Amino acid sequence: MNLNIKLIEKAEKNHCLSEEELISILKDDSINNILFEAADRIRKKYVGDEVHLRGIIEFSNICRRDCLYCGLRKSNTNIKRYRLMPYEIIDLAHKAAGYGYKSIVLQSGEDLYYTVDIMKHIISNIKKLGVAVTLSLGEKTFEEYKAYKESGADRYLMRIETTDKKLYEELDPRMTHEERKRCLRDLKHLGYEVGTGNLVGLPNQSIESLANDILFFKEIDADMIGLGPFIPNEDTPLKDYKVDNFEISIKVMALVRLLLPDANIPATTAMESLNRNGRVIALSSGANVVMPNITEGEYRKLYAIYPGKICVNETPNQCWNCITGKISSIGRTVSKELGCREKRNMA
Ligand code: 5AD
Ligand code: FES
Repeated sequence: MNLNIKLIEKAEKNHCLSEEELISILKDDSINNILFEAADRIRKKYVGDEVHLRGIIEFSNICRRDCLYCGLRKSNTNIKRYRLMPYEIIDLAHKAAGYGYKSIVLQSGEDLYYTVDIMKHIISNIKKLGVAVTLSLGEKTFEEYKAYKESGADRYLMRIETTDKKLYEELDPRMTHEERKRCLRDLKHLGYEVGTGNLVGLPNQSIESLANDILFFKEIDADMIGLGPFIPNEDTPLKDYKVDNFEISIKVMALVRLLLPDANIPATTAMESLNRNGRVIALSSGANVVMPNITEGEYRKLYAIYPGKICVNETPNQCWNCITGKISSIGRTVSKELGCREKRNMA
């Protein structure tokens, strides 16, 4: 039998793979379906058939950073910038809770307009709805993270993007890998459920470094791991780097499920942007979360991190109906719970 099939069988039992073993599986495309099926079984065994929906509000596309891959980078002058007022953000969260969302994600570029006091006001008002609140606001100080936590924030998402320090620092000018890791440590320390993840298929990203990304998620015991394909954006320096990263993203995600069986893993929007059935494929290969966009109007188009983003012309209500339909069509159910990570015994 193919050695990699044996490795997948082993990982299905003990949830461990070494760097070499991960590399061997990542390089072998003949076993992809076997890997996806194993990840699907582990997902079912540890986190069940329920899919958690997190409604995401993209409340500002203004960013002080200049990441080479991202359309929101500050050097991009081809994009119309916007920023939602606190009452508009709270109003969107209200509507989302009305559709049935139990969890709201607040995401933005690193926009310094939103002071700690403004964020505290937004978070504490949204918490009154009885939903879980997740923040994805980028790098902040320990004190800032602490203040958000004290106003009720439950979770924080910050992708490490890549564990290849050299590549990270080339792609994220004036940012350091150390600082990124400091943020993740602080967030854990403060008692947040911590989400991280990576971009798959970046220029000069090696298979070895993808294996190390997976091991990093396990090492920090991430509660959520959101990852997706890198999609070149015309308005960035990486515009000419054309590759199809869909399948390899699903592979990395399936391996993450094998190694972190009880984590929350989203079927990401970027996956669906490359493959019209991308989220259903991801949900059948280890994922148990979807994060539909609940921003309204033209802002959906303007939050243009990468091209071809799905759902830019839909309303939050249409997305709710669309995604719940897709979830039932594959025999899964929409969770009515907050969807916290429940740590399981790995036996
Ligand atoms: N393609 C896909 N995902 C991207 N992100 C940034 N730029 C791109 C791109 N060109 C991801 C980053 C970031 C998240 C909000 O969006 O991983 O953490
Ligand atoms: Fe938005 Fe399907 S989830 S249109």
